[in-house]
Amino acid sequence: MAQLQEMAVASADQPLVPTLDYTSPAYKDAYSRINAIVIEGELEANRNYLTLAELLPDDAAELKKLAKMEFRHMKGFEACGKNLDVTPDKEFAVKFFEKLRVNFETAAEAKDVVTCLVIQALLIECFAIAAYNIYIPVADDFARKITEGVVKDEYLHRNYGEVWLKARFDDPQVKADMERANAANLPIVWEMFGQVNQDADTLAMEPDAIVEDFMIAYGEALGEIGFSSREVMKLAAQGLRAAA
Ligand SMILES: [Fe+2]
Ligand SMILES: [Fe+2]
Repeated sequence: MAQLQEMAVASADQPLVPTLDYTSPAYKDAYSRINAIVIEGELEANRNYLTLAELLPDDAAELKKLAKMEFRHMKGFEACGKNLDVTPDKEFAVKFFEKLRVNFETAAEAKDVVTCLVIQALLIECFAIAAYNIYIPVADDFARKITEGVVKDEYLHRNYGEVWLKARFDDPQVKADMERANAANLPIVWEMFGQVNQDADTLAMEPDAIVEDFMIAYGEALGEIGFSSREVMKLAAQGLRAAA
């Protein structure tokens, strides 16, 4: 692991980027959970887009393409773990995603495409966008290259959801369903942030910056779909209120 020198970009007294030892037990321990979450998140995204392909037969070809991208992302992140000689803690990751997974599955069974898209294309994609953007500057060389490629795709995935929801935003039912899906699932995302705070910090991913990036990415998407700034704030506040 010869990537370390490069992390020490800094003046002696006040490092801009903390020096990271990717081989230290503390780094590897935190990485075993973060890496597992990322792998599991990509796998679930893969499954979710395949489910959406069934729910939206007209878009099946495109959605299957997105599913394939997610599977490729998963393989890339598995390689990142192996590169650092870390065994991902799958059990932790499966549990981490449980609530969102159950809510997605319940919505899919009810053919509630709006909720499925809010969970996968908006919340999960924005979570990924935020986490990957914050990770890139502090990642090891190998993982950085992979993550840079991945994050570009996640913007495309978010865009799929934006376009679909925007095209139907005139329908008051769609707007109401989005609000309901937000109220039910944003607090879960908040909880998830709380669970990885400490591990993210160990990897030099500033927890507050992840949340900020997430809110920017999610707010942008809601605005693009058609919510006013005030409505975006209201939706964001629902997450905070329930998490408090
Ligand atoms: Fe992905
Ligand atoms: Fe994605």
